[in-house]
Amino acid sequence: MPDPTATVDTGAALPLAARTAQLRSSAIGAVLRLAEAPGIIPLAAGSPAHELFPAAAVEEVSGRLLREQPGILQYGDTAGLPELREWIAAHVGARLGAPPRPEHTILAHGSQQALDLVCKALLDPGDTVVVDRPSYVGALQVFRLYEAELAPVPLASDPGLGALTDALEQGLRPRLVYTVPDFANPTGAQLTLVQRRRLAGLADRYGFVIVEDDPYGELRYDTDGTTAPPPALASLSDRVIRLGSFSKVLFPAARLGYLTAPAPLAPVLGLLKQASDLGNSGFIERIVLELVTRPGFVDDQTAAARTLYAARRDALALALRRQFGDTLQFDMPGGGFFIWARFADRTDAAGLLAHSLRHRVSYVPGAEFYAAGPDRATLRLSFSGCSTGDLARAAGHLHAAWSSAAAGGLAAVAPGGGAAR
Ligand SMILES: Cc1ncc(COP(=O)(O)O)c(C=O)c1O
Repeated sequence: MPDPTATVDTGAALPLAARTAQLRSSAIGAVLRLAEAPGIIPLAAGSPAHELFPAAAVEEVSGRLLREQPGILQYGDTAGLPELREWIAAHVGARLGAPPRPEHTILAHGSQQALDLVCKALLDPGDTVVVDRPSYVGALQVFRLYEAELAPVPLASDPGLGALTDALEQGLRPRLVYTVPDFANPTGAQLTLVQRRRLAGLADRYGFVIVEDDPYGELRYDTDGTTAPPPALASLSDRVIRLGSFSKVLFPAARLGYLTAPAPLAPVLGLLKQASDLGNSGFIERIVLELVTRPGFVDDQTAAARTLYAARRDALALALRRQFGDTLQFDMPGGGFFIWARFADRTDAAGLLAHSLRHRVSYVPGAEFYAAGPDRATLRLSFSGCSTGDLARAAGHLHAAWSSAAAGGLAAVAPGGGAAR
């Protein structure tokens, strides 16, 4: 019989669920905390520009709603405010060819919760999830929590999706394939029409579900407005769950995202949402509805965002090219928040970070974004939250850090990822 006076071992008395063993604290969290430090130019955080937040409109709308309809502080519809779901269905319908039925659209606390609900509905421990190489770290964390087997396969960087096709032919049977087809986090890459058609065809042939995560699709910078964006994956296959977000074009504190799911899945996802939290804040949903249905509001907000972010992207790209020449390689992203770069001399980006912080600039080492086999010479530089002046200065700081690290003998990484010297 146990001695009741013995010291309690809280670790044993409060054992954690097995699934929590999969959770890893990401270096991004640590870098973001450091990046908050005064004087550091934060190229680590992928945050929207606060200058774009519609604070005055939110203040005006929320004040009026509270005066005129105090009942909006009541519990709301679990799947989300019906009028907002209708607006979303019509809004995303333009990209899908035909609007989804509003009852197939479920609002969630950001697209991050939408992804969590999808995993809860579809993944059993040990199920395989294909992720891009590299992939969004927040998604990797959710897949790990559901004890998925991660299968990293190059998607955006593989024009014919040959690696995925081969893996499927050789017997890989994923339950999900996760992709950010437009201006991905971290690479900024966009899937071509050929890649989209091929991926949709593979989903139909092999029976997996595609999770199409699209927080950045509206933020495209290289168009005069006359070129249509490539079709959404959800318009090419019935096996697609599409995630969207108000975080990047409105404001992330709304914590408002949504999923659009094929008919048989939508009711299950609705029940899971109910079990998770009974629903989003009806108050915030009503504010967002008022904003997005104001004539011209979304178009103006999106246009202002495109102009601001395009200027920031250009400023960072130009400054990096000036400072580094060919030493830092990157493709110009056509949208989104990030420049994904690689040191041609294979500098270890994780090793360089401490030097960079001393030189007052942060970024995220690219290794964070790989489910396995990281390319340690890569790094993600976010231009969304900094002024053009700060971005120009940041490139100088980064170059100074790189020069001093090289002079101090910072090891480069071997082609396979290990330390070369
Ligand atoms: C690819 C991707 N998906 C999802 C999210 C989460 O967005 P939300 O604020 O809607 O939860 C982010 C945020 O950075 C992201 O980059």
